[in-house]
Amino acid sequence: MKSLKLAEKRYSVREYKHKNLSNELLQYLSNLLLEKPSISNASSLEIRFVENGFDLAPQLETVSGYYGKMIVAPHYYAIFSHPDDFSLNMAGYVGEWFILNALKKDIGSCWLEVRDSNQLKQILSIDTPKKAVALIAVGYAKKEFQGGEIYAASQNNSLSSLTDLGYPNINPNHSKGPVSSRKSITELAFLNEWGNIPEIEELEIRGFHEALFYMRLAPSYGNRQPWYFVICNDHIDLIMDHSDDLSPFIQGIDAGIAMFYFEVGLHDSGIRGSWHIDALKSDYTLPDHHKLVGQYKF
Ligand SMILES: Cc1cc2nc3c(=O)[nH]c(=O)nc-3n(C[C@H](O)[C@H](O)[C@H](O)COP(=O)(O)O)c2cc1C
Repeated sequence: MKSLKLAEKRYSVREYKHKNLSNELLQYLSNLLLEKPSISNASSLEIRFVENGFDLAPQLETVSGYYGKMIVAPHYYAIFSHPDDFSLNMAGYVGEWFILNALKKDIGSCWLEVRDSNQLKQILSIDTPKKAVALIAVGYAKKEFQGGEIYAASQNNSLSSLTDLGYPNINPNHSKGPVSSRKSITELAFLNEWGNIPEIEELEIRGFHEALFYMRLAPSYGNRQPWYFVICNDHIDLIMDHSDDLSPFIQGIDAGIAMFYFEVGLHDSGIRGSWHIDALKSDYTLPDHHKLVGQYKF
């Protein structure tokens, strides 16, 4: 099955039923962690299960969540990482892989920022030299999962382009679920150099339209969608907008999430390749505060 349907269903769950996940689902999640994607270097990342979320959430208030507003959930997974770019990218890549796999069993989830790593480690009694970079809340969503929220969130001008792209199941009137608005795919991509906006037909001919469409489904801190893709002959550059001056942890995780979604989209389109993050160099000029963080080489 293509992953698109799954990603369409995804949204951040901020309200959970007041009950623990079943033992069967908890076992499913812990098995998932044993099969982490091979791209991630096992030693750079640690993901720890936090069982008693309802008890701990009040103590984590101010320590985690936007503006210190904690999301109360039955359980959390705490992600610990080294502070280098690769490890942080892997935190985002693997965390989002985990979230989509949890969703296969209708487990709701939400990324939560960690504002104070030391305090979080102290409250959770976790001793590790790595930094706590994010929490993932998990549990049963109060609201049923629905497909198609993303379409309801599309701006008027982007809806027609989605239809053009041949996604026949679009239901533009569906608006029952929580929605987060997203950029259209031509706002995310450039050809050969920064600022050179491609026609949708050009993206279709090259087979990249679906992968870019996936990016519309990807979550990001504050829903900023800070990613851009510059399509070159033998690779695609991932450029991140760092003008918000957020912590390197958040920037690294957002970039890792972008790598994960784009790669899944490319693989679903039959385009093989892999991400490289070392010795990066672009042949064109980037605007201030924009950084080349990865190259997908075919
Ligand atoms: C690294 C990261 C940190 C996030 N931190 C929080 C948070 O602290 N609180 C929160 O409510 N949502 C948080 N989110 C969720 C985003 O706000 C959400 O993914 C985005 O608004 C898009 O909405 P959606 O996930 O429903 O599609 C975070 C997302 C990411 C990627």
